[in-house]
Amino acid sequence: SLNPLEASRQPDEDLVARLPTREGWSTPLTLYDNCWLRSHMVSKFMLVRDDFKPRRDDIILATHPKSGTTWLKSLAFTISSRSRCTFADHPLLTSNPQRVVPFIGVPGTGGDLDHLDTLPSPRLLSTHLPLTLLPPTVSTVGCRVVYLCREPKDAFVSRWHFDNKIGTGAPISLEDAFDMFCQGCSPFGPFWDHHLQYWNESLARPQEVMFLRYEEIVSDPLKVVRNLACFLGVPFTEEEEKSGLAEQIVRFCSFDSLRNLDANKAGGGVERAGGKIFLEASSLFRKGKVGDWVNHMSKDMGEKMDLLVKDKFKGSGLEF
Ligand code: A3P
Repeated sequence: SLNPLEASRQPDEDLVARLPTREGWSTPLTLYDNCWLRSHMVSKFMLVRDDFKPRRDDIILATHPKSGTTWLKSLAFTISSRSRCTFADHPLLTSNPQRVVPFIGVPGTGGDLDHLDTLPSPRLLSTHLPLTLLPPTVSTVGCRVVYLCREPKDAFVSRWHFDNKIGTGAPISLEDAFDMFCQGCSPFGPFWDHHLQYWNESLARPQEVMFLRYEEIVSDPLKVVRNLACFLGVPFTEEEEKSGLAEQIVRFCSFDSLRNLDANKAGGGVERAGGKIFLEASSLFRKGKVGDWVNHMSKDMGEKMDLLVKDKFKGSGLEF
């Protein structure tokens, strides 16, 4: 017989099987509580809202996928661990950035919920889940959240390349992927709901929720690094500034620097989702450019997406 704690952690597989499911991306997606999740992950993510225990001093890096999660994790980790890690002997030299900050509720990343309970405070955690799939206590206890999003056309192009790189089945055409993305059916989509939830949260809790865009980090990484350090509660000291530490962190976490590390090069990929996904660390580093959508999407597609974006964010104050 199960004790009540174990019983509470049993996902309801019958319920999962009854949810709407769509094929098309590298794995099927299932719609749970208005969010499209990779079907094989739904039962794990369903547990997060009830069983993840937010702490007041948690820092959660919440990102829409393909918005620069890898980059944000590297920056936040390097900033917050700088008193214990030197650049000569840094965890990022040997681990993919995705591994140094656990994904809440994703076991292979150190994010198993029981394991998270054992981590010392303050915890640096990450998630792609929309706010509605996290426990409401994230807001009420006042967890700090750094949200990162990206111009939707670029995020879409990055998503399309990524799914084709990790998928082991037939490739996804740009057109099919585009249609699904615009219907809101993409991993952790609809993207507009994802952005709006965190946008509104940042308006409601401006001191505790930092809303960031990929383009902003590209255009002034140094400014973002300094702001992040303050936000994380570890601003650079005068001495650190004099020694150029902020600049050093920007360089250390830059696309070219990270991508060229052995830990992030091809080789040693892992299979997931019963062989449907083959994830290589190198898949997380493609081009790292703003505006790459023009090299893949037609003018028509671009206009269609811009209209959709305008419509979805109308009146919210959020613009792309
Ligand atoms: P592109 O596909 O446009 O190149 P995520 O980490 O959320 O999956 O996002 C991946 C995107 O961020 C990819 O975009 C990837 O190249 C880019 N990226 C990864 N690391 C980066 C870094 N250090 N600096 C800038 N961009 C980076």
